[in-house]
Amino acid sequence: MNWEIKATMLTSALLIAAPAAYGDAAATYAAKCASCHGKDGKGQTTMGKKMKVLDYTTAEGQKWADADGVKVILEGKGKMKGYKDKGIDEAAAKDLVKYIRAFKK
Ligand code: HEC
Repeated sequence: MNWEIKATMLTSALLIAAPAAYGDAAATYAAKCASCHGKDGKGQTTMGKKMKVLDYTTAEGQKWADADGVKVILEGKGKMKGYKDKGIDEAAAKDLVKYIRAFKK
């Protein structure tokens, strides 16, 4: 086996291993949520600032119940549209809430 194939296999293994802690939540968040809520959860994106989204790294920004978060992700609220018709089910929404909770240190 040459080094190129080995390098490719190693890269694939790392890509599969990385989001394991939150299932697909990290990948889903990066693809569908970060445009408003920010990669770091602070909401300091053009859209996020315009919509005044919460800063998920602060206690203030986390003052909502898990169940409400799941509901907003599935059904939407205000300017955020729901994702239940866009491939996010309840289990995935719960994982996303856990992922968002982890922004606060
Ligand atoms: C178009 C911008 C936008 C996108 C994309 C978006 N959101 Fe939101 N999100 C908002 C706004 C605005 C609110 C506040 C809604 C309100 O209270 O009126 C919100 C609220 C929430 C809440 C409820 C807690 C809070 O901050 O008020 C959660 C949880 C949440 N979003 C998660 C997500 C997840 C997970 C995704 C990706 C699947 C996502 N959002 C995608 C704009 C967005």
